[in-house]
Amino acid sequence: MASLGHTVVGIDVDADKVALLASGRAPFYEPEFDDILRASLDSGLLTFSTDFAAAADAEVHFVAVGTPQKAGSNAADLRYVDSAIEALLPHLAPGSLVAGKSTVPVGTAARLDALVAAAQPAAQLAWNPEFLREGLAVADTLTPDRFVYGVRRGDDGDRAVAMLDEVYATALAAGTPRLVTDFATAELVKVSANAFLATKISFINAMSEIAEATGADVTALADAIGHDNRIGRRFLNAGVGFGGGCLPKDIRAFQARAGELGLGDSLAFLAEVDATNLRQRERVVRLATEAVGGNLSGRRVAILGLAFKPNSDDVRDSPALDVAGRLIEAGATVVATDPEAIENARRLNPDVEYVADVETAVTGADVVLLLTEWDHYRTLDPAAIRELPRAAVLVDGRNTVSSQAWRDAGWAYVGMGRP
Ligand code: UDX
Repeated sequence: MASLGHTVVGIDVDADKVALLASGRAPFYEPEFDDILRASLDSGLLTFSTDFAAAADAEVHFVAVGTPQKAGSNAADLRYVDSAIEALLPHLAPGSLVAGKSTVPVGTAARLDALVAAAQPAAQLAWNPEFLREGLAVADTLTPDRFVYGVRRGDDGDRAVAMLDEVYATALAAGTPRLVTDFATAELVKVSANAFLATKISFINAMSEIAEATGADVTALADAIGHDNRIGRRFLNAGVGFGGGCLPKDIRAFQARAGELGLGDSLAFLAEVDATNLRQRERVVRLATEAVGGNLSGRRVAILGLAFKPNSDDVRDSPALDVAGRLIEAGATVVATDPEAIENARRLNPDVEYVADVETAVTGADVVLLLTEWDHYRTLDPAAIRELPRAAVLVDGRNTVSSQAWRDAGWAYVGMGRP
């Protein structure tokens, strides 16, 4: 927002994060973000604070806090949204707009709208979900593929639309589509988009299970069905499955909300999507077990990639880290590496042996698992590391390298639904 020319104050209750950001460093790894952060600080348009009073002068208040999965339940934990709104209410000026960004259960915006109206009758709320992908967050924020504004009907809604149009003027001028909806539709757009993407991945992973049993090649299958424009090739990469801070918890929260609405049947298929996804983690463990001759106890397993996806240091619900834990439970020694995610992974699982590079990770390994498709791993020269492991076996949990090239270099190659 600051890089677009707006004056921005970022508020968080976490003083360490605020201090780090104010000093020009991000508390996470995200390509291109550090440069834009520093340039925005230098321009004087961006400041950070832990004090909600700093919001008092703002015309638009974006609420972008997390909505993680509630402990012991599938539902979303709304405590951060609720407390952010509560802390913001006393500082709302007449005419100001609260724009919700967080992914919330349908019905939340209407509830919060009433709170805003009660605290400041001349302020209002809009629901304005974001669709950014980690690793591509800067581009997705500055040039998104669409805007969705959930607003109240009538004059207030028109005013909210005009304010958001001003905020997003640059991207709108470039022709970015903008859809104006009611609150419920805007909330549902976000969760249904993620539910669809998760379904697409689990669909191809189910095909990959069938391919494995029948000797078919799921990669060729995805290429072939992907040529059908109605299907499309994107998000049809079979492998160890989806993870991260969004897809898994969003499909669970969506089911929980549907259940509350008495519509559990409508989203019952998402339980299957979740189960199919989690099954891929067990499947990788099975493939690794078979690769070492049936028993992981005392074996040394190398893992390349810990982040839930490349170009991120995020290990929330990371399939790779989950597999690492399962391998350790089965008695293996796990040696893992990742270009960015080691520190975050260590906090969640200190029992993994973390090393800085591929060569150290694979040395002496009984099997090597590629679980996050970082470019560096996709483009490894298999011949250069052929002599390092005890057994040159690659389980490609992302179906991402050339099986032929690895076999030609003397490796045994095991894909997921790829002969
Ligand atoms: C997702 C949505 O894409 C984004 O629009 C939303 O705003 C937030 O949630 P993100 O969590 O960054 O974004 O990750 P995404 O790129 O969707 O990938 C999710 C997971 O699916 C990753 O673990 C990835 O490895 C996996 N994936 C993706 C596959 O297994 N196969 C694919 O074909 C694509």
